[in-house]
Amino acid sequence: MVERPWASPELTGWRRLPMHSLRRPAAVPLDGRWRFQLLPSPEAEVTAAWEEADVPGCWTMQDSGDLPQYTNFRMPWPDLPPHPPAANPTGVYEREVAVPADWAGRRIILHVGAAESVLIAQIGGVTAGIGKDSHLATEFDVTDLVRPGETTTVRLTVVKWSDATFIEDQDQWWHGGITRPVLLYSTDPLYLADVRVTAHRGGHLRVDADVRSMHGRLPGGWRVSATLGGIDLGVDTAYGALLAERDQISAWEGRVRLRRTIPGVRPWSAELPTLYDLVVRVHDADGTVTDETTLRVGFRDVEVSGRDLLVNGERVYIRGVNRHDFHPRTGRVVSPEDMRADLMTMKRFGFNAIRTSHYPNDPVLLDLADELGLYVVDEANVESHAYAREICDDPAYLSAFVDRVSRMARRDVNHPSVIIWSLGNESDYGVNHDAAAGWLRAFDPTRPVQYEGAIKYDFDGGPISDIVCPMYASIEEITAYARSGRQDRPLILCEYSHAMGNSNGTLADYWAAIESTPGLQGGFIWEFWDHGLLQRLDDGLPAPEGTYAAGVAGPGYRWAYGGDFGDEPNDGNFCADGVVFPDRTPKPAMYEHRELAAPVRLTDDAGVIRVHNRQHFRDLSWLTAEWLLDADGAAVRTAPAELPDIRPGGSALLTPPAALIGHLPGDGELWLTLRVTVRDDQPWAAAGTTMCLPQIRLRTERRDLPLRASGRVGGPPIEVDHDGLLVHPLLAAPPTLSLWRAPTDNDRLAGLGARWADQGLPEPVRVPVDVVRDGDRVTVHARYLGGLVVHEQSFTPIADGILVEETAVLGDALTDVARVGTVFETVAGFERVSWYGQGPWETYPDRCAGGPVGSHQAAIDDLFTPYLRPQESGGRHGVRRFELTGPAHTLRVRLDGPRQVSLTRYRAADLAAASHHDELVPRPECVVHVDAAHRGLGTASCGPDTLPAFLVGPGTHRWSWTLETT
Ligand code: GAL
Repeated sequence: MVERPWASPELTGWRRLPMHSLRRPAAVPLDGRWRFQLLPSPEAEVTAAWEEADVPGCWTMQDSGDLPQYTNFRMPWPDLPPHPPAANPTGVYEREVAVPADWAGRRIILHVGAAESVLIAQIGGVTAGIGKDSHLATEFDVTDLVRPGETTTVRLTVVKWSDATFIEDQDQWWHGGITRPVLLYSTDPLYLADVRVTAHRGGHLRVDADVRSMHGRLPGGWRVSATLGGIDLGVDTAYGALLAERDQISAWEGRVRLRRTIPGVRPWSAELPTLYDLVVRVHDADGTVTDETTLRVGFRDVEVSGRDLLVNGERVYIRGVNRHDFHPRTGRVVSPEDMRADLMTMKRFGFNAIRTSHYPNDPVLLDLADELGLYVVDEANVESHAYAREICDDPAYLSAFVDRVSRMARRDVNHPSVIIWSLGNESDYGVNHDAAAGWLRAFDPTRPVQYEGAIKYDFDGGPISDIVCPMYASIEEITAYARSGRQDRPLILCEYSHAMGNSNGTLADYWAAIESTPGLQGGFIWEFWDHGLLQRLDDGLPAPEGTYAAGVAGPGYRWAYGGDFGDEPNDGNFCADGVVFPDRTPKPAMYEHRELAAPVRLTDDAGVIRVHNRQHFRDLSWLTAEWLLDADGAAVRTAPAELPDIRPGGSALLTPPAALIGHLPGDGELWLTLRVTVRDDQPWAAAGTTMCLPQIRLRTERRDLPLRASGRVGGPPIEVDHDGLLVHPLLAAPPTLSLWRAPTDNDRLAGLGARWADQGLPEPVRVPVDVVRDGDRVTVHARYLGGLVVHEQSFTPIADGILVEETAVLGDALTDVARVGTVFETVAGFERVSWYGQGPWETYPDRCAGGPVGSHQAAIDDLFTPYLRPQESGGRHGVRRFELTGPAHTLRVRLDGPRQVSLTRYRAADLAAASHHDELVPRPECVVHVDAAHRGLGTASCGPDTLPAFLVGPGTHRWSWTLETT
């Protein structure tokens, strides 16, 4: 055993087992409360001062004195690789374990699911071995260290910082602890050491079994059998015994290969994840079964063919999301129930793939991906970000790279969901990668290998990567490459559409490009979670028991991000960048994704509706549908829809029932929506779950100037104050020009927030120029920003209120502003809003594909999206009119066309001043924004900004609206 193993990349310990693919049940589960003490360093003496801690559990979440720290890629200490810092929290876990008496003569294994980062296991005071890799299990053969029928002490010492930390430098919270289950199991002396299954969609099945004896030499007469259930093999053979070609290749190493072609297998895919149970058994010379294992087998093929990644011969779109192990109460311990819930959420929102960024996940997650149907890019736990250039070529880390990649592959090789191996993340590209890839290709020629670092600087480079898998490449870059004639491999973005705060702008534009450009096949959104840890406000500690709901931490708690635990250095809220809140509540961007990934799509085919089956393998029989007709936001008619029998990828014409679209009311817009729901319960969605809401416009607005048409009918005279500001009994603040929004994370990190502040946009000084009365019409001119903006606002009385017509001329210096529009505040007392426009969830100009146009309503408080760091939020796109109601009054606003609108309890300045959602104090008034133009969201916190079409710049902006009361 090496000295100071936490400071050396060498591995040691003969009792440590090689990684294998077998899943052994916990014969003696060791999860629960353990004695625990936290030492200041691994060299410190263990004392008698024991406390207790949960296993699995991060001690950083359990009031141990050592708190979570968040950095993106900065190492939390200054020493160079491979040196850990002297101050090195070390958790010592201890408990007694009673070894069953009937294990006498059996082989006994200690399994530690995951510990970060160095694990030293001792049994009865004797060191069993050492494990590294915070995200893979370590197993020790402890047969010689325990006595069946007796109780012994297990001590697990977990050293937080080590040489390995330099290759675990992922963008996430730093924790310490044991994060996956701990258990003991035993086997017969004659046992299965590993099983490898290869199952092709044509039914070809190969099972390779490794058999060993704990006594070394294998006993004579042993054999292996296997059965595959669930396949109709014909009469009397519901379970077909496979032929065993026994092939004992040495006295101690037994290898068996079983081959069979199973007729009529149903292939596995993410859409139809058919699994078959395979039972593999070892028998001794008497035929007695000494060991057995059950694997769930999926028959499928994956291959790269030219520029296409094919699953079962089909070019499938990869609609992926990056997933970390994360939980707001436990840090990094995720229960099987939570994993299932996560994957169900992903499926319900149209995701069909996960990248296990940036380390192998709990094997339970892969079981669930197999079962529920998700493709997986399985990524090795290698990220040397801070010292990427140095470490990728450093021979001291060569064995660690190969070890991590190979152990992941040996563990996960039998999962049909795993379609691609990834060598790791953000570690530059060097010989250590080549070594790992070489091992991988020899071990598993059936799956492609990807590594972003290899194509980072040159998409044509790095043949080590079978897939061009860039991160955050722009639409222009990927389409230019696909059209360059140089592309020789599929392009699937390993990360794109950074979901930090109010983000994911241009997702629809990405998918329009992907679906229309050969060679582009999808990508993985960054990322699933907002990594906000639940924190108690009174003492600032992590809150394993705290409450939360609907995306918001409960009273007395908040979602903590970098710096909130006093952690230094830190990278702030850069860890809050997921499509779900820390409690798994979907953010509005999820609905955008759901619609873009819709299994059913509608198009207008020369005036006839065409319905498309957008799936690759499945027909539409699992879905049911209903038509909804919205006539100018007023009449909603519904009718059942019959989805035609359409093959995957096909389409058919579909005529809505005459009763639905006959005698169409009014002369306004008509929108026809197909609400597509799950017909029968799916393992991941109950019957009735909405899958998509494709929409088609049957008739456009016929009225030319709807607002003016109702103007000048002589309502009560307009009242303005001496500055030309409207005086209105229901407005607490008059309508003024707004050019700013509370910077989104994208705005802030792109430097726009600072630029807008420099330009004076947050509170532009308004200088009234004149007030002109022309009959009952009042026109007010004002200058903002020292004349850089000239604003004209005219008020005309109409039947129930006022018509407001506005023009703003922005000077050339204002190249890129957040919005041009009107802001006003109502008096207190308005609680609900109904609107006709896009919804019901939040939408923005470059993120509005998932918000169908229609009549929506909500409580004003519910319109707001509680992004962790407050920012512009709660907007609705394409709003034609809205109505605010309260006990006393109704305020109706009609717009001259579809506009961006927001109604909140917060001024933009309130949002910009707060750093956490819990700091916000809702105002009783309602702050209303009606925008002539609103900037897109883009993804500039990490990746491209919005497209030029969604920018708001200089020139003349015109808009008009009415303010009516009843
Ligand atoms: C990538 C990285 C991720 C994460 C993301 C930004 O560069 O792979 O781990 O840091 O950027 O949130």
